[in-house]
Amino acid sequence: MNASPAPNLRFDLEQVALDLGARSSEFALRWVESCGSTNTELMNCTPEDDGRVHVLVAGQQTAGRGRRGRVWLSWPDSCLTFSALWRFAPGAPVPAGLSLVTGLAVAVALEKLGVEGLQLKWPNDVLIHGRKLAGILVELLPGRGRTPAAVIGIGVNRRLPDDVNIPGQAGGVTDLQRELGHTIPAESLLAALLTELHALFETYAAAGFGALRGAWQQRNAFAGLPVTACGDGSTIYGTCAGVDDDGALLIRTDTDLQRVLSGEISLRLAP
Ligand code: BTN
Repeated sequence: MNASPAPNLRFDLEQVALDLGARSSEFALRWVESCGSTNTELMNCTPEDDGRVHVLVAGQQTAGRGRRGRVWLSWPDSCLTFSALWRFAPGAPVPAGLSLVTGLAVAVALEKLGVEGLQLKWPNDVLIHGRKLAGILVELLPGRGRTPAAVIGIGVNRRLPDDVNIPGQAGGVTDLQRELGHTIPAESLLAALLTELHALFETYAAAGFGALRGAWQQRNAFAGLPVTACGDGSTIYGTCAGVDDDGALLIRTDTDLQRVLSGEISLRLAP
């Protein structure tokens, strides 16, 4: 998809640091006007571990990636697109649940900025009235004896072009402009997201996903609804019964309670 001409690609890193306040020394912030994918950049050129969370923000991505091999389309100045390289203490509960904690942090940060009606679609789409507001791609860095680390990629729709049509988004998409009547400056948004990620990752590392499960379930877009979960060569039909302490999706079928650890879920019309 082509960009509209002359977008505002400026990004004020100093403002982000100011908004982060005392926390700013814990982050190494970098902005690039354009790159293929901020996740790919951090996965391929991993910064040295200096104790800080390395954050790469792109004014524009030319090869943005979504979950399950999909593309993530964005237009300059329409989306906040960034990735953060988060390192965890050895033994921390990194893989399971991290994706869900990230989605929860995005939702909570947006709520604190005044966005209402946010819901989470397992594992981590952020929706309003069924429309996608933000997408998350969490990728684990290969261990090889190093500190466990993950690249957390987040795209938040700030102000999409009016005629946008994104293939593969069944319920459609939305943006902050539409939901709030105004958008949020990308700098404030980034600072709020990093602040909440920091807080919830601390809880997660100390107490596991179980400590955040209730907050996730309060925002579960599919709670009690009929769902179909497809993935790994099988399909499960049933009613969404929330998530467990590992972050697995629970589906009550006619015969039992199934745990889904990866895949895609969609709303199934009740017969
Ligand atoms: C999805 O909804 O499928 C996940 C979308 C994730 C998009 C973000 S934008 C910043 C980061 N860089 C990428 O290439 N993807 C993530």
